[in-house]
Amino acid sequence: MALLSSVQRHVETPTLGPTPVRLEYIRAQLTVWPVVNGTEFLVAIVPRSYDRRSVIDVGRTLQKVVMDATRLGLATCWIGPGADHESLKRHLGDRFDPERDQIICTCAVGYRSRYVPLFVRLFNRMSFHRRLLSELFFTDAELCVPVDVAAPPYARFGRTFEACQWAPSSYNGQTTRAVLRSDAGVVQGVDFYAATSSRYYAPVALGIWCANWELGCEALGLEGLVASHPKPVGELAIPRHDVTWVPTLAAGA
Ligand SMILES: Cc1cc2nc3c(=O)[nH]c(=O)nc-3n(C[C@H](O)[C@H](O)[C@H](O)COP(=O)(O)O)c2cc1C
Repeated sequence: MALLSSVQRHVETPTLGPTPVRLEYIRAQLTVWPVVNGTEFLVAIVPRSYDRRSVIDVGRTLQKVVMDATRLGLATCWIGPGADHESLKRHLGDRFDPERDQIICTCAVGYRSRYVPLFVRLFNRMSFHRRLLSELFFTDAELCVPVDVAAPPYARFGRTFEACQWAPSSYNGQTTRAVLRSDAGVVQGVDFYAATSSRYYAPVALGIWCANWELGCEALGLEGLVASHPKPVGELAIPRHDVTWVPTLAAGA
């Protein structure tokens, strides 16, 4: 019940794209890899016509639900490539319209099992690493000069850097980067970049970073707003600047 109200709250939050994200609940033994015995799932659905902002919204919205679930003592597992979309669609029934809808990913929710199969334990161990902060956060748009996270004006974002560093991503691809623009000792904005040309999992991962950045800042009492970065049609340069977080009040000082 608490999780459903979290879903309600986050899908009603203004999105970057033109339409809200839909998160549909399924209770079934779905065909997914490698979630063993998962029986409850949230499925993220956006309009069928591709809009990158909506894919980012999936990451941002679902990650906020995932964080609420974690606070409630629930375990979660994002499932992208591991989900069989035909079985998802079968269980969604008339909540999925193939003419209008597109499934982006799903997320298993439940109580963590004490039994973890060996291959899952090995996979988890292999993915339990992250790029250094100096490989993820920069002060310039060329992504060359790393942020000194311990020095002002960046230090005030505290462990928000780590919250992004440890964000989940498909196959642990870690495709998001951020540039902290500052002027006269004040952070003016944080630009989130996708480091690969992937049309789905890089924007989802970037949305997850945005959620973690916002939640980290919220916890520190730093207010800000996110907005998508406008692009000329056909602009394909990589790394790709997708979203900006702009501090409000005195967050950047
Ligand atoms: C969009 C997305 C899709 C994912 N798809 C799968 C999947 O299909 N199967 C799976 O076991 N894990 C999946 N993951 C989880 C990642 O493999 C995991 O986050 C990454 O390996 C890092 O591991 P950690 O989050 O446990 O540190 C996905 C994560 C994201 C964000």
